[in-house]
Amino acid sequence: MGTFMKVIGFSGSPRENGNTAFLVQTALNQLQKQGIETELIRLGDKQIEQCTGCYSCVQEKECLIEDDFPEIFRKMLEADGLILGSPAYHSSITPKLKALLDRAGFLGRWVANDMKGENSTYQWQGTAFSGKVVAPITVARRAGQNFAFAQLLLWATVNDFIVVGSNYWNIAVAGTSGKVDADQDTEGIGVINHMAENMGHLLTQLKK
Ligand SMILES: Cc1cc2nc3c(=O)[nH]c(=O)nc-3n(C[C@H](O)[C@H](O)[C@H](O)COP(=O)(O)O)c2cc1C
Repeated sequence: MGTFMKVIGFSGSPRENGNTAFLVQTALNQLQKQGIETELIRLGDKQIEQCTGCYSCVQEKECLIEDDFPEIFRKMLEADGLILGSPAYHSSITPKLKALLDRAGFLGRWVANDMKGENSTYQWQGTAFSGKVVAPITVARRAGQNFAFAQLLLWATVNDFIVVGSNYWNIAVAGTSGKVDADQDTEGIGVINHMAENMGHLLTQLKK
């Protein structure tokens, strides 16, 4: 029996079956072929308030806002890999995905570290995500991919993830006049499938 592995894909779009959900599911289908369990979480269905900056998680090691975040965070911790998908909204990721990443990143840091005194410097021990793998996917009608893609990379690389690349950036071009037509971007689909293959190989090696 092989080692159990799971990847969770997030669609940051408010549109349930939009381009982002299609592209993230494309990656998850490829991972399933490599024997990895997957789950697609559409944030459009979820209530995720923005971080209030209350800093309670520093001491409490949990987020005190009562919404869908705690269950999603628990699933993130159980997963071996994450795929973070977002449409470009004015060149940015969506507010719901940003809210999730702000809260998960901050809580994930304080789960693994303690606040130091006022004048001491940090020697970070890691984060709740140390050693997990992650890949971004963005989709835009035309432009603004780079900033949204970079937002996801910056979140990944400050939170101790191993980032998975592909043979191009994991982006697709779709949604002219609001259409759901990411399935027409064959180049984008090829790049995303290649990323998922890389993620599957990496997870298999890491879990040996
Ligand atoms: C509020 C809003 C802002 C958008 N901003 C951009 C943008 O900056 N650049 C772009 O190319 N497309 C932009 N789009 C188009 C979407 O990125 C595109 O249609 C995408 O495929 C939608 O993905 P979804 O079907 O998963 O929601 C925007 C759409 C909306 C609704």
